[in-house]
Amino acid sequence: MKQLTESIMYVGVNDNKKTIFEGLWPLPYGVSYNSYIVKGDSKIALIDTVEAGFEDEFFANIAQAAGERAVDYLVINHMEPDHSSLIAAVRAKWPDVTLVASAKAVPMIEGYYGVAGNIITVKDGDNIDLGGITLTFKMTPMLHWPETMMTYCPENQTIFSGDAFGCFGALDGDIVDGFEKYRDEMIRYYSNIVGKYGSSVQAAFKKLAGTQISRICSTHGPIWEKEIAEVTALYDKMSRYEPEKGVCIAYGSMYGNTAKAAESLAEELKSLGIPYAVHDLCTESPSFAYRDVFKYDTIAVGSPTYNNDIYPPVASFIHGLGARFVKNRKFFAFGSYTWANASVKMLNECAEAMGFEIIDPGKPFAQGFTKEKCDFKELASTLK
Ligand code: FEO
Repeated sequence: MKQLTESIMYVGVNDNKKTIFEGLWPLPYGVSYNSYIVKGDSKIALIDTVEAGFEDEFFANIAQAAGERAVDYLVINHMEPDHSSLIAAVRAKWPDVTLVASAKAVPMIEGYYGVAGNIITVKDGDNIDLGGITLTFKMTPMLHWPETMMTYCPENQTIFSGDAFGCFGALDGDIVDGFEKYRDEMIRYYSNIVGKYGSSVQAAFKKLAGTQISRICSTHGPIWEKEIAEVTALYDKMSRYEPEKGVCIAYGSMYGNTAKAAESLAEELKSLGIPYAVHDLCTESPSFAYRDVFKYDTIAVGSPTYNNDIYPPVASFIHGLGARFVKNRKFFAFGSYTWANASVKMLNECAEAMGFEIIDPGKPFAQGFTKEKCDFKELASTLK
């Protein structure tokens, strides 16, 4: 338990055991499931729960924060199970607890956990008085599910933002701020989890305009106090698909030939001082390549031709770009083939469908090519 203000306490937990988030995304630095107690003179609210498996630590944190008092309200900002798993356990511990949720969350609460009754359904602008402390609700659908909302405490100028402004990485020691430390994991979290919902993030920004915010309490990662400007600027930029200069090279390779071309491209970019990152989609999760797609303005994709098609790990990566509505990017393709030169042409078709600017017709290299023959010099110089 960590005291954030006189009336707000952090009661979340760190998960350093899970290695893959949502069954998809690696967690090299763990993840936190954040939950908060808000104490008024007459009532206590718990904002969200944590993932199942952390019951003992979670309830011990709450006991430390609430003392002898019972939890009166459980505010459910988001129903994804990493935050909602212990709803039934909270109701079992405090049978009189009133759940507070959006209308769309109510059937999910019963569907997931068989919990019904004593639920206040809130809409935009509704308030709950905890006794000198108020909670106001702001509907933020599709950030990241349809039922999501944020909860604002005006007396503490604190927004409980759900997944928005969150990041991967367990918390250690000081749980407030640390933007530079968490920046890359914030981009990876955004690109992997929230990236599809840029327009919902922009709608949330509009809704929060004019709200005095001194503290952001999201469901993952640090609490933001001194670095709110940096965090919101990054989320704003990512949700507008606004990149910085650089190249994300993502490739798959069957026998090392397309890898050879990727290495040659990387060496050329390095010699020109152009920022880049290289991702082998056969040996690493696309999670990291998606991070760098959201970071850089150019995507270079390499694929051999396989079954007269794009190589499967690369095809899956490309599908993920479309699913995230990635836009405002330059694109070029490269690859290797033995007898059927199909992959580069097909990658270009995908890029065109996604509205990318194709800056080169592509470089399919035929069998027997060497790294020295992969001529990216002219193409790379246009990116300088
Ligand atoms: Fe961290 Fe969308 O749940």
